[in-house]
Amino acid sequence: MANYPEKVFLNGEIIASSEAKISVFDRGFLFGDGIYEVMIQFNGHFFFGDAHLKRLAGCLKKVNITFDTTLLNGYIDHLLGATGLQSENCLLYIQVTRGVAPRKHSFPENTDSTLMMYAVPYELPEVNTQLVSVVTQPDFRWHRCDIKMTSLLGNVMANDFAIKNGHYEAVFHREGKMTEGSHSNLFFVKDGMVYTHPSDSYILNGITREIVLKICRDADIPYREEAITFEAIPMMDEAFLTGTSTQIAGIKQLDTHVFQEGTSPGAMTEKLQELFLKLKNNYHPEMNYEKSSNLLNAL
Ligand code: PDD
Repeated sequence: MANYPEKVFLNGEIIASSEAKISVFDRGFLFGDGIYEVMIQFNGHFFFGDAHLKRLAGCLKKVNITFDTTLLNGYIDHLLGATGLQSENCLLYIQVTRGVAPRKHSFPENTDSTLMMYAVPYELPEVNTQLVSVVTQPDFRWHRCDIKMTSLLGNVMANDFAIKNGHYEAVFHREGKMTEGSHSNLFFVKDGMVYTHPSDSYILNGITREIVLKICRDADIPYREEAITFEAIPMMDEAFLTGTSTQIAGIKQLDTHVFQEGTSPGAMTEKLQELFLKLKNNYHPEMNYEKSSNLLNAL
């Protein structure tokens, strides 16, 4: 099957993806009642994998899906072993839904959750040198964007609008303030200060967002978790997106406002990209952006 992974992990078993089946009454299918994660392995480790699994556990808790995430490391090893990707550079997708039950809005009792995972070979560029064009959209999503749920209709509608109009990404604004992208977080730079929306219920707190903020702290780059208004966009010096596969992408143009005329990102974006690359090249799984004192010290 072109473009599909050959095998998937479904509820404890490795199955050919063409044979994998879930019930039409799975609440993930009926309601989008599920949580997901995306993480990337390179140089033999998932980049801040523990942080991704912690976010997954946190989101499952927020929506009351019962699932023991401590089992995941073993399951992931099993999947990577069965697909020959143990030490390969790859992308892992994990989805946990509330499981199968007769259709009723309220949560069913005693239902086993459904776990589906797949891994595919994936090569990240060292640095994302692509300068991207993005377009704004009113944030018509719900008010719990902190939950990484599988019901992504708002995000996919906005991204489809962006792609159909020749852009890489759509970035949302709500109540006059810039929030985030459809699958990325949004940063601005003004007079040497880095700005991004605070991690509240209007954005997904990206792992890459947290890594970039930790880099700022460790490299003495001033930053503020403060939303930039829609009106202030033309006053900003630089803008960039962050995300697991996006890494750090400089924004060339946002709506009609051009940030970069040439092919290079702004100076601060470039500096953060360099530091991010160093961190990637020196990454080891004990690194923790919440606990480690200075991630850049060792570089
Ligand atoms: N998207 N905001 C939204 C709405 C996202 O969907 C994502 C990630 C991010 C960035 O988060 P992180 O840095 O943890 O990847 C921000 C994933 C990759 C996806 O849906 O494929």
